[in-house]
Amino acid sequence: MLSHFKNDAHKAWQSSSGLIIRQNEPKNLETPFSDVDSFLTPTELFYIRSHFPVPTIDPGTYQLHIHGAVRNPFYMNYQELRDMPSETRVAVLECAGNSRVFLVPQVDGAQWELGAVGNAEWTGVPLAALLERAGIEGDGFEIVLEGADRGTPKEPPVPPVAISYARSLPRNKAIQQEVLIAYQMNGRDLSPDHGYPVRAIVPGHYGMASVKWLTQIQVVREPFQGYWQTSDYAYWDYLDGRPVRSALGEIKLKSEIARPRVYETLAGNQVCTVFGSAWAGETEVTEIAVSTDGGRSWGEAEFLDPVQRHAWRRWKFDWLTPKQPGKYTLLARAKDAKGGVQPDHHDQNYGSYVITHPLPIEVFVENPAFAVT
Ligand code: MTE
Repeated sequence: MLSHFKNDAHKAWQSSSGLIIRQNEPKNLETPFSDVDSFLTPTELFYIRSHFPVPTIDPGTYQLHIHGAVRNPFYMNYQELRDMPSETRVAVLECAGNSRVFLVPQVDGAQWELGAVGNAEWTGVPLAALLERAGIEGDGFEIVLEGADRGTPKEPPVPPVAISYARSLPRNKAIQQEVLIAYQMNGRDLSPDHGYPVRAIVPGHYGMASVKWLTQIQVVREPFQGYWQTSDYAYWDYLDGRPVRSALGEIKLKSEIARPRVYETLAGNQVCTVFGSAWAGETEVTEIAVSTDGGRSWGEAEFLDPVQRHAWRRWKFDWLTPKQPGKYTLLARAKDAKGGVQPDHHDQNYGSYVITHPLPIEVFVENPAFAVT
């Protein structure tokens, strides 16, 4: 098995493998999670999740429009944005449907395995700085971020006209310093698939909030009711005991095993390093428990990365594989600084999203005498 995790936080993967195709057009490509080695996910191996074809945007004519419930609406071109004071932050982006393939019975939607998630370094201007310049009106409630990509979604209720991708952020999240209007990923200008020339990055929220090809920032006075806010990327919440649709937001605590891989064959009576990564939304991952017997007993894993809000933490666990050949189920379960722990089961109220229960990785252990050394 691969036991070559690297503890070198900023070293890029040496992997030559590519992305896994979940859908070819529009591009929905998955990171081969079992190759995860480095703290930062290299851009060429970072998952891509797009609802419509990539729009072509000329940075020479690009304009970002900031308007709505603000005192000073304005347009900003690409160069003006790049001339503003910038910040660089590491943040996990995880698609809310990551790990959907683990749901039983199977559900519709892209059959993501473990790799609709990545950890990258983003550079851009805090959204707060733009909102400050615009001056949000007192009754400004949410901030709608809209991309230049357009089309007709396939999932009902199908809108009567083509729509652009848009999501809103609660005002109190939008004004946090970590929310970026980004133009660089891992030290290079964004690639077209990842939102060139400009995208939002909303650390701590599921990936759908980080609108790519961003052209409009609109402050609205009422809750935004757009397709990706209420129909898709929404779940059943409860208000005064009644079910209501709510927009997905904060990332939930999760840990994934990268290696060994599903159905990998391991030698018995040898140390196998179980390696993975864990992340959370508005808190920190503080503990990882690993089970190698389907959840009957648990041992504590060791972190390879320090605590850093919104970034993931890689971890490892040395497992002395049993002498007894057979199939074994590995699980990882994270705890966070607020006392939260991954749930035992998927919550049906989230439909085909927020799959955060410990995901079973089944492996085979063979008789030590048969092991190829
Ligand atoms: N922004 C636009 N304009 N169009 C999109 O389809 N997809 C969203 C988000 N931003 C999307 C978008 C979703 S669902 C995710 S998970 C992330 O982008 C994925 O970002 P990435 O493709 O850079 O990994």
